[in-house]
Amino acid sequence: MRKKVSIVGAGNVGATTAHWIAAKELADVVLVDVVEGVPQGKALDLLEAMPIEKRDVAIAGANDYAATANSDIVVVTAGIPRKPGMSRDDLLNTNFKIMSDVVEKVVAQSPECILIVVSNPLDAMAQAAYRQAGFNRERVIGMAGVLDSARFRSFIAAELNVSVENVSAFVLGGHGDTMVPLARYSTVAGIPITELIAPERLEQLVQRTRDGGAEIVKYLKTGSAYYAPSAAVTEMAEAILKDKKKILPCAAYLEGEYGIEGYFIGVPCKLGAAGIEQIIEIKLTQEEDAALKRSAAAVKELCSVIGV
Ligand code: LAC
Repeated sequence: MRKKVSIVGAGNVGATTAHWIAAKELADVVLVDVVEGVPQGKALDLLEAMPIEKRDVAIAGANDYAATANSDIVVVTAGIPRKPGMSRDDLLNTNFKIMSDVVEKVVAQSPECILIVVSNPLDAMAQAAYRQAGFNRERVIGMAGVLDSARFRSFIAAELNVSVENVSAFVLGGHGDTMVPLARYSTVAGIPITELIAPERLEQLVQRTRDGGAEIVKYLKTGSAYYAPSAAVTEMAEAILKDKKKILPCAAYLEGEYGIEGYFIGVPCKLGAAGIEQIIEIKLTQEEDAALKRSAAAVKELCSVIGV
């Protein structure tokens, strides 16, 4: 039997995630949205592309959650996106209400699923989903690090005029202004980028990574990024569906790792069939550790506003 992935929110991020997942033939897909007709229309349109793409997957759209029953993974993208000038944190209260409602309905249909949270502000929304779901921490994962590192990787590849395939990068911390791109652990064909890019220039690339989401919002004006975010979700979903044991930066609920207790923050995680199968602790320098703690403090503040 094929795997099943449900995606809540048929906006740009949700629909594009459906597109990548179907194009890679990873699972059957259900798109859910409150807007009547939109998930059905987008799902049907995508389904009709499958003969061309030579992919055998079922794709359906729905307004209610019955269609999501027994999903292996549920991706939650529901919520309002940013407008120019808004920070991810400005979305907090509205998206918290949406998240709580969505997760309650999702869990009723798919009590065994793995949740991938995408809505912003990411780390606080992952925490809200975790509290609402009552799942073990392996099964609630926030998507941010894969996206933030992909942005960093694309800037590094362009800077050095090398293949993106040569570049690995790690971005830790919260998905916000306090994220922590780790230059020391970022490499080009195994060579640390600190050997290849001058410190001042590297700092500019790091800053552009931190501002990566806002840069897109500024161009789009009416919404935020979706191609790279949905590709990031798809990489995480693939690692889980294929039990790849792939190490990716994800927002995970920490219970003392990195000296952080009781909050979601971006750290290297091993993703496999059980969800987060391991949280990998790497030794940070004092400066990196301080940056991660600052990031965690920012997440904690948001969580306290919504009481999760
Ligand atoms: C971004 C939004 C989706 O980083 O958080 O583009």
